[in-house]
Amino acid sequence: MQLTIIVPTFNEAPNVAELVQRVAAATAGIDTEIVFVDDSSDETPEVIRDVAATAPLPVRLIHREVSKGGLGGAVLEGIAAAASDVCVVMDGDLQHPPEKIRDLHQRYLEGDVDLVIASRYVGDGTAGGLADRTRVFVSKASTAITRAMFPIRLRDVTDPMTGFFLVDRRAIAAEGLKPQGFKILLEILARRNVRFAEIPFQFAGRRAGESKASMRQGLHFLSQLAALRFGKMSLFALIGALGAVANIAIMWGLTQIGVGYIVAAIIAAEVTIVANFLLQERFVFQDMTGDASTIWLRFVKSFSFNNAEALVRIPVLAFLVETWHFSSVIAAAVTLVVAFIARFMFHSLVVYAPRRGSVGKPAERTLLEHIDEQITQPGEL
Ligand code: GDD
Ligand code: MN
Repeated sequence: MQLTIIVPTFNEAPNVAELVQRVAAATAGIDTEIVFVDDSSDETPEVIRDVAATAPLPVRLIHREVSKGGLGGAVLEGIAAAASDVCVVMDGDLQHPPEKIRDLHQRYLEGDVDLVIASRYVGDGTAGGLADRTRVFVSKASTAITRAMFPIRLRDVTDPMTGFFLVDRRAIAAEGLKPQGFKILLEILARRNVRFAEIPFQFAGRRAGESKASMRQGLHFLSQLAALRFGKMSLFALIGALGAVANIAIMWGLTQIGVGYIVAAIIAAEVTIVANFLLQERFVFQDMTGDASTIWLRFVKSFSFNNAEALVRIPVLAFLVETWHFSSVIAAAVTLVVAFIARFMFHSLVVYAPRRGSVGKPAERTLLEHIDEQITQPGEL
């Protein structure tokens, strides 16, 4: 098998026959199968079985009783079940013209990319098939926001929201992706380093039935964006915030039993530094421990950094207040934010840096790319 076409469907019965027929015509000469991953509540599965019986190419149906992960989850299930490593993902409503499959495949065969994106916003591509002006606005605005949030990764992607693309599954470790809702391509682009290219296509009108895009999908999308962009960093911040609360609680407890406040502050600080390290180790950087130095070395680096940070922060705070006349609250906030960013960067770049000679990460990336990659790794809580 040279090519698997993955079609997620949710109540697309009237579109199935034409889709199969046009895909078959468009892929003549390429050994191709179609895999429908279906979550329908209507007669779509029966229609797919009927069409499959007489189709000129193999047509398989995966009907899911529980629609895990919605559209994105369906796509991943299709990728896992595909007979070919090379998969084209497309909608079942004919908004993605099957005639473009050949161009996607041709581009892939040039051999320099693992992902070919069919874009509405490059060359002679168009988004004419979007239902109305609101959808056009939402599509343009969300594309612009997304690209602004991932200025490095999406620098060369004009249409990160498209649902029409070819991917070589060997390049994306699909099992580790966690899509919520519609934006599976964005998930791939944000979390994996793949070589990609774009080709233009004309987004057609829906052939029959209704779009399943909804307000709910919109909210899903926003939470996906936040999780992708701030995943690791937000978890790091959450653990840091818990540590600050614990710090104060410990200090309060110790002073209650008569420990002097300076000694209490030192004990509270050291206890939370150690606890924070263990939590970050377990929940934030667990994916990097394999390639990093030993846990003792990591602990020493982290412990030294946090103590140095505490020692440096106080004089800086005093300097801001005394010399620059910052209000003490603002000065404290500024130093805490700067310290937080510095701590995150130090941990992801130094404490959990891969050992020299460890396999995996190519060395010739810039510092900015490295930080970007770290921040976008998903948190695991
Ligand atoms: N299996 C499964 N499960 N399929 C689903 C689900 C689901 O929960 N929800 C939708 N689908 C299928 C639909 O049946 C259709 O084949 C395809 O996914 C896209 O759904 P549409 O309802 O047609 O979405 P759209 O046209 O509004 O959005 C499309 O265009 C957007 C770009 O404007 C999708 O391709 C989006 O991914 C894309 O961002
Ligand atoms: Mn559609």
